[in-house]
Amino acid sequence: MTADLATGPVFTDDYWVDPYATLSRLREIAPVREVDLPDGGSTWLVTRYADVRAAFTDPRLAKDPRALLPEAERPAEPLIPGPSGHMLLLNDPPVHTRLRKLVVQAFTVRRVAAMRPRIEQIASSLLDALPPDQPVDLVATYAVPLPMAVICELLGVPPVDREAFATWSNTMIDSSPQAAKEQASASLAAYLAELVEAKRAEPDDALLSGLVVASEDGDRLSDTEIVAMGMILLIAGHETTANLVTNSVFALLRDPDLRARVVATRAAGEPLAPLVEEFLRWGSPVSNAPARFAAVDVELGGVTIPAGATVTLSLAAANRDPARFDAPELHDADRDLSGHLAFGHGIHFCLGASLARLEGEVALETLLDQYPDLEPAVGLDEVVYRHSVLIHALAGLPVRLRP
Ligand code: HEM
Repeated sequence: MTADLATGPVFTDDYWVDPYATLSRLREIAPVREVDLPDGGSTWLVTRYADVRAAFTDPRLAKDPRALLPEAERPAEPLIPGPSGHMLLLNDPPVHTRLRKLVVQAFTVRRVAAMRPRIEQIASSLLDALPPDQPVDLVATYAVPLPMAVICELLGVPPVDREAFATWSNTMIDSSPQAAKEQASASLAAYLAELVEAKRAEPDDALLSGLVVASEDGDRLSDTEIVAMGMILLIAGHETTANLVTNSVFALLRDPDLRARVVATRAAGEPLAPLVEEFLRWGSPVSNAPARFAAVDVELGGVTIPAGATVTLSLAAANRDPARFDAPELHDADRDLSGHLAFGHGIHFCLGASLARLEGEVALETLLDQYPDLEPAVGLDEVVYRHSVLIHALAGLPVRLRP
């Protein structure tokens, strides 16, 4: 463990190997402290369950960077140019309230539940394309393409365009240079704008058409807002879900007892939903919620976060706080999981939670039903995590599906 976690660096090699050891020490000795970020800059990292939960509903912690400007100097348009500034996760009430009310009309429980058979088909066809007896990387061949295909299907992206759509999306989130990321984001936005036009002319049953017609007291989403919604759904729903799947499979490969429990649950014909819910708490696919800004001085856990500071709520730390979850490092699907924070809390609570749960469940069920004996294709200590503050993501997970 690094020398001094009370004041020293947090995102060190130790953190990338096992964030939980670092986070648990931090929670004890410096539960609210400013830390340097690996790419420069700093943030106030909050690690106790009670503080994280309280911060999620504190209106003084804003998502829109305009909150940092004196009220008279705030521009009418978002500081971030293009459609991105209109994304749900970058807005506060009342703008956020309005956008969220309109999107929930189209992103309904019924629409999500109706996707189960398609998600099962997509999962099976991805697996069918893989050689069962050769090493394959489960991240690149299954966990990432599955949610990507589901989002395309959900939004109504025509099959011929899906490859380009996936390429832009991957460039936006991989380690490409900043200029390439911006170019990909602009191409994606331009593509979505055209698609919205097309859906307006010829509506279908998919979500983009649903967003075009959604209305609340005569109010509707503008085309720019619909494009922003498409972008946030893609960004928020892609790698996150992939991590739920791969972190869970990795846990099963490392823990034979847990694996036996999962296999027994399937053999008894029971759904994996409760196990997946505990995987969400235990593995926190989003380790740290995307930044918030302190609009004024904010006291949290006895520490004053100064106005203007960036604040990061650690879901990984909160979800393993022994003050809320007994023996938090154990995967125990029978525990009381209410209030776990894997999907956040408050007004920005994950819009796609029910879809993510469904995808996680189907991905694991399909994989384990088809390949109950899958095994790692490398030593387990060779499997490494990406150096991402935001997500807890394996760089790759080489497996052999059928030994
Ligand atoms: C928000 C986690 C999958 C769409 C969030 C937040 C978290 C989260 C923690 C809140 C962030 C904050 O308050 O700063 C996850 C996890 C997922 C997942 C762990 C998978 C296991 C999805 C999926 C979709 C989605 C599949 C949609 C296709 C969104 C959207 C928001 C959001 C639109 C912003 C909501 C708002 O600002 O009102 N998610 N997410 N997420 N998520 Fe998810």
